[in-house]
Amino acid sequence: MSIKKSLDYFKELIPAIILLLLSIQSSLGQMQIGFDQSPLPYSYNALEDVIDARTMEIHYSKHAAAYCKNLKEAATAESVQPGTPLEDLLKGISKYSQKMRNNAGGHYNHEIFWKMMQSPKENNLPTGKLARAIEMRFGSFEECRVAFREAAKNRFGSGWAWLYVDNDKTLQIGSTPNQDNPLMDISEIKGYPILGLDVWEHAYYLKYQNKRADYAENWWKTVNWEYVSQRYESAMK
Ligand SMILES: [Fe+2]
Repeated sequence: MSIKKSLDYFKELIPAIILLLLSIQSSLGQMQIGFDQSPLPYSYNALEDVIDARTMEIHYSKHAAAYCKNLKEAATAESVQPGTPLEDLLKGISKYSQKMRNNAGGHYNHEIFWKMMQSPKENNLPTGKLARAIEMRFGSFEECRVAFREAAKNRFGSGWAWLYVDNDKTLQIGSTPNQDNPLMDISEIKGYPILGLDVWEHAYYLKYQNKRADYAENWWKTVNWEYVSQRYESAMK
């Protein structure tokens, strides 16, 4: 092929290349979590029957809003470079204060938690590559669910249960205390969180009181598997 023909061929491909780059940018954008609090992707009563509207309102507008505000204060006080991706900050969290650890974790965890849920439905199951990966790793979705429920139930005090992709690209289940998560360099479990359950009492106490296991069981009806699959595919790249 002559140089001119090659150039003409390349010119024809330019629109397709631009579209491809825009779609990559947009899918990366969906995964990016900023320092601002995103709008809740549904109304406070959208998860009723599993999580009541009052709990959602207090959780989002008081607890999560406070993590966001305190993260910004800590970022200013500790001279975090503007535009630093939150995930990068979490990966080096050992360099910062306890206030930064609690609130950067708290903000990130809640931002992804809202997106991981949607209106409850029965027989709410993962699909596609993620469903196959869960079956390969745990034997069945049911076994994955039981292991996750145990991680949620056995986390002493406040914290989070996680399904995450470890650094060897293997699915794992575990839990972290307080507002820690597997992205943090100080975490005992390390990797990319794809699904997380908030087991702080503020997330369930009004409806479930001391019955954390009932909350953890009911919660599966709300999981937004499409978003969790996006996080899985992003982690596997
Ligand atoms: Fe929470």
